[in-house]
Amino acid sequence: MDYFIDSTPLEKLQSDCIIVGCYENGQLIPSAITLDALTQGVISKIVTRGDSTGKNGKTLLINWLPDNTFSRILLVGLGPQEPLSAKNYRTALAAAVKTIKEAQIKSAACTLAEVDIEDRDWCWKTRQIIEVFDDALYQFKQCKTLIENELKTEQIIIIAPENQQAQAQTGLLQGRAIAEGVALAKTLADLPGNLCTPTFMAETATELGRKYDRLSVDVLEEADMQALGMGALLSVTRGSRQPAKLIVINYQGGEKNRKPIVLIGKGLTFDAGGISLKPGLGMDEMKYDMCGGACVIATLQAAAQMQLPLNIVGLIPASENLPDGNANKPGDILTSMSGKTIEVLNTDAEGRLILCDTLTYAQKYQPEVVIDLATLTGACLVALGRVPSALLGNDDALCNDLIAAGNIAGDSVWRLPLWEEYQELLKSNFADMANIGGKDAGTITAACFLSKFAEDFRWAHLDIAGTAWRTGTDKGATGRPVPLLCQYLLNRAQG
Ligand code: BES
Ligand code: MN
Ligand code: ZN
Repeated sequence: MDYFIDSTPLEKLQSDCIIVGCYENGQLIPSAITLDALTQGVISKIVTRGDSTGKNGKTLLINWLPDNTFSRILLVGLGPQEPLSAKNYRTALAAAVKTIKEAQIKSAACTLAEVDIEDRDWCWKTRQIIEVFDDALYQFKQCKTLIENELKTEQIIIIAPENQQAQAQTGLLQGRAIAEGVALAKTLADLPGNLCTPTFMAETATELGRKYDRLSVDVLEEADMQALGMGALLSVTRGSRQPAKLIVINYQGGEKNRKPIVLIGKGLTFDAGGISLKPGLGMDEMKYDMCGGACVIATLQAAAQMQLPLNIVGLIPASENLPDGNANKPGDILTSMSGKTIEVLNTDAEGRLILCDTLTYAQKYQPEVVIDLATLTGACLVALGRVPSALLGNDDALCNDLIAAGNIAGDSVWRLPLWEEYQELLKSNFADMANIGGKDAGTITAACFLSKFAEDFRWAHLDIAGTAWRTGTDKGATGRPVPLLCQYLLNRAQG
């Protein structure tokens, strides 16, 4: 999809469709008033007749107009009179793009960046148009020989006046980078486990290293992990025939000696549970257990594309978790890279095993902060559903930064407590700790486990089990939390 900024006056604009907005009370946005005048009052007549309610997220496509340079008008309901909430704005944009897509419009011009939104500038509004549109125009085509609804939309032009060009152009660059990141994360995640293996993820990352100057990629093999003593990570991959990889992506956009931000993503390319086998129903969705890793690769691509003046390290432990004669067994005791021993009470709690050694490995970068993202617990869905990602961490300032970034990005997180009292649940009679904490507070005890390997740095953990993909007829990856992470990095680059 191509996105551009244009400041051509509407009366001269050649377009298949111009997207304008209307409030619930019948008030039109400035561009809608201009178009109304150019069309002998078509829009105002429709609005007074009551055909367009202006309700947030409702649309009306006017697909015939007497001779103009533009052939259609899409009227989008914004909701109650300005200033609009960021959430209603995104809903209106989603409705607009849905109609454009269904009507198979090739090129559309969007004027909705002129809508007033509290505390949001043209940069943000331009970016949101691109992010919301691109999200809806994503199609997974890799494995289909026959594509039923081939996408006809090719181009979106964002209308911005001369005096907002600078802001809109910045928004365009950020929006393109974030949207491309989200699309990469979705594609990797939607690919099945037989195609998106640890090796494939490593190759995808290596490609990025070739493409971007300041980005380099190293892949640690199982022999390297052995030499480092990563007993927890290696125990998970023992049951799999695909070799595990620890992907290291290094982006050097900042001053040489500036401490890096480390992002760690769980890259389980398929999680069958191991000997503690999962039930069959819906097990296909465990191909999505690598979404954390995909989002780290995607965020580093976006950072490189935006040329952020930061140093960022991405670490992705990638493996499968399968039952096998050589797999972990309940009761097995492992020695992690940190030296701490772990009793594996459930082989399905494998994410924390591959993450704990990666957290220990992160220490070598003397990180400024470490953020891990993982589809870690089914309990996260019970606690929070599919709306926010869960956030836990040992540093209030870092957690608050992530909450703020999530709010701006429209990619929310909700913090859960990581209190001392919960740590007790991980006690083991035979090792330093167990890998599960019983049936209560599963998301918290999983984070407690990780916290024991993150004692020496500022650390936050995002459990994305409920947000990384959609289930049901609309099944598909979401690319979350790439927008949140990009916003966090943009904020860090400014401050
Ligand atoms: N990848 C799963 C978590 C998961 C399950 C995410 C369902 C999204 C939907 C993880 O490896 C896992 O299996 N966790 C177990 C932990 C339990 C054994 C303590 C779980 O949540 O059941
Ligand atoms: Mn599991
Ligand atoms: Zn898992």
